[in-house]
Amino acid sequence: MKEKALLLYSGGLDTSVMIKWLQEMKNYNVLTLTLDVGQEKNDLMAIGEKAKLLGAIKSITHDATDKFADDFISMGILSNGLYADRYPLSTSLARPLMAELAVKYAQENSCGIIVHGSTGKGNDQVRFEVSIKALDDGIKVLAPVREMNMNREEEIEYAKEKGIAIPYGGKYSVDENLWGRSVEGSTIEDISAPVPVDAYRWVMPLDELRGSRRRVSITYESGIPVAIDGKNMPLKDLVMKMNEIAGSHGIGAIDMIEDRVVGIKSHEFYECPAAVTLIEGHKYLESAVLSRRELKVKKFMDDQFSELVYGGLWHDPLTAYICDFEKRMNGPVTGTVQLDLFMGSIKHAGVESGSSLYDQATSTYGKAQTFDQTMSPGFIYVYGASTVASRKVRSQKLTEISLEGR
Ligand code: ARG
Repeated sequence: MKEKALLLYSGGLDTSVMIKWLQEMKNYNVLTLTLDVGQEKNDLMAIGEKAKLLGAIKSITHDATDKFADDFISMGILSNGLYADRYPLSTSLARPLMAELAVKYAQENSCGIIVHGSTGKGNDQVRFEVSIKALDDGIKVLAPVREMNMNREEEIEYAKEKGIAIPYGGKYSVDENLWGRSVEGSTIEDISAPVPVDAYRWVMPLDELRGSRRRVSITYESGIPVAIDGKNMPLKDLVMKMNEIAGSHGIGAIDMIEDRVVGIKSHEFYECPAAVTLIEGHKYLESAVLSRRELKVKKFMDDQFSELVYGGLWHDPLTAYICDFEKRMNGPVTGTVQLDLFMGSIKHAGVESGSSLYDQATSTYGKAQTFDQTMSPGFIYVYGASTVASRKVRSQKLTEISLEGR
């Protein structure tokens, strides 16, 4: 009997070629799994039909948008998830969900093999394979692009030969979901020039922006955004709406030179209007609600979360522990922030929270103050004692060191 392989199928050129290749070169029965994670081209039915036409014995489609928002994007917000302080982990967060669903459907359909379309040079192969193995170590993983080392021209040649319709892919390599759009390749590879305007889709390029300011209010409940301008909506809808609002004000274009897990530097362009705005608003609210020590420890944990998720370790138990920490820490992070979106920048324009630690009566320089200033000299004496003492002993040496360096 032929072995059964489950292919993560996007409908694009790479994975379409794979359906044929897996049948002809590997003699597998191919099942395809197409997931909706909020990408633009999400006519799942049409993609499923195409898979059947190419010979798949079964095509499965699954709308994962709610789960992606509620279980993955939510964690990205609670932890201010930004790799290298900039990239909101849009592609990174979707991969472990895709892997989880691939394992589920592979098990249900007795497929011993999962096939994905990633290359051997990126992060996604790592994310897929670590996640799949962590969830079911018995499943074999195959990455034909990596194995065949086929380039795009060769793929197009093979597709023509096999009568596979070549989808219009544009010149860039693009990955999309609710949380953002990752764009790489072609002219973006040249780091000496700005990212060309034809790479933009979700964010209005600066040159095309008209100078209008948009004040937006975002309400968070225990760290999760629940309303825009006072209107409550499910997280998935809220993210879609914020992509539109912030994108139209030029927010969320991120041009970065990035360090991949596999040790390669790459030039990436991201469009993540909602992610950038919702994380900025969340940090703003946290700055009012959490204490100095909480913020400091949380920043450390936030960074650990981003590193783990970027590096494909979502299914590591440590990630789950950090998620628990993040959820607890976000307990009191409830309130509303106002942000001004203007020509690609975000300005803070007001924060209100019942759990804010900011107390105007304490911090005011005005008359109505409650802070007892007469207590400060004693505090400064004790607090600074070690600095004052050290300086007395070492001041001579400090002078020598600074002179030697010249
Ligand atoms: N560098 C990003 C990441 O590792 C995006 C990778 C996918 N990008 C793409 N254009 N196919 O998460």
